[in-house]
Amino acid sequence: MLVGFDSNDDAAVYKVNEETAMIQTVDFFPPMVDDPYNFGQIAAANALSDVYAMGGKPVLAMNLLTFPNCLPLTVVEGILQGGASKVLEAGAVIAGGHSIEDKEPKYGLCVTGLVNPQKILTNNGIKKGDILIITKPLGTGILTTAAKADLLTPEENKKAIAVMTALNKTAAEAAQDFSIHGCTDITGFGLIGHAAEMTIGSNCTIELWQEKIPVLSKALELARMGIIPAGAYRNMDYTKDKVQTLGQLPQDVLDVLYDPQTSGGLLLSVPESDAEKLVQRLKDSGVTGNTIGCVKAKEEKAVIIK
Ligand code: CO
Ligand code: CO
Ligand code: CO
Repeated sequence: MLVGFDSNDDAAVYKVNEETAMIQTVDFFPPMVDDPYNFGQIAAANALSDVYAMGGKPVLAMNLLTFPNCLPLTVVEGILQGGASKVLEAGAVIAGGHSIEDKEPKYGLCVTGLVNPQKILTNNGIKKGDILIITKPLGTGILTTAAKADLLTPEENKKAIAVMTALNKTAAEAAQDFSIHGCTDITGFGLIGHAAEMTIGSNCTIELWQEKIPVLSKALELARMGIIPAGAYRNMDYTKDKVQTLGQLPQDVLDVLYDPQTSGGLLLSVPESDAEKLVQRLKDSGVTGNTIGCVKAKEEKAVIIK
């Protein structure tokens, strides 16, 4: 076992031989969007993401599905087709799965990936002097909450769905030519929660530069209206002893930094000498790439926001 329970990492990694390690991960959740096909795509992109966050390539996936009997079969088909489209895009194959009846629909994947044991990316390798790079804008938790209350225009809704259905494949491939010290995908704990997790065992503190963090348009405005998912408050509560804010930070910005992300981007920690080159590579590949902070010697708090 190369990566297991103890490091809170994105997936488990098992060494098969000197050249190959197997990555195993499972993720599923209830719908956060109305359209079954989009829901399937988002759930699959999210499950596949943990393989990318470990530096691996997905090869095999199995469906996990629960649904109430009253649900029309076309809805079930839509979810599965959405999921399959993302597995195909990832270059992996779907090999069956399991479904059971339940009051609420839930969908996701169990994914197997492969990685060279020398090239595994973990959460906890960050080093003093590193620069942090994010590969998707934040705010999807707030936007999906707003969509449920019909507060988004079709355009805004489309943009949020595009962010959530995008695979982290391109970003992970771009990162492969660089020496990445730490990597995770930003999901339920929000940017701050996942950043705090990256500091565990590192003897480092992460400094985030709030003005540099990409945010979906409309998310700040919605946060000011109080459209904030319950998970953001849980994240605030969970990390309150680990975070220091410098200066007067606007509350709407903080809300977005705590916003739980559905199928968020990668958070990469790279040597300063590689940062600009990686950002350029990400942009050339058509994905978001913003430097949003740095890694410092350990201070009292795990995360400093300024
Ligand atoms: Co993850
Ligand atoms: Co996950
Ligand atoms: Co990881």
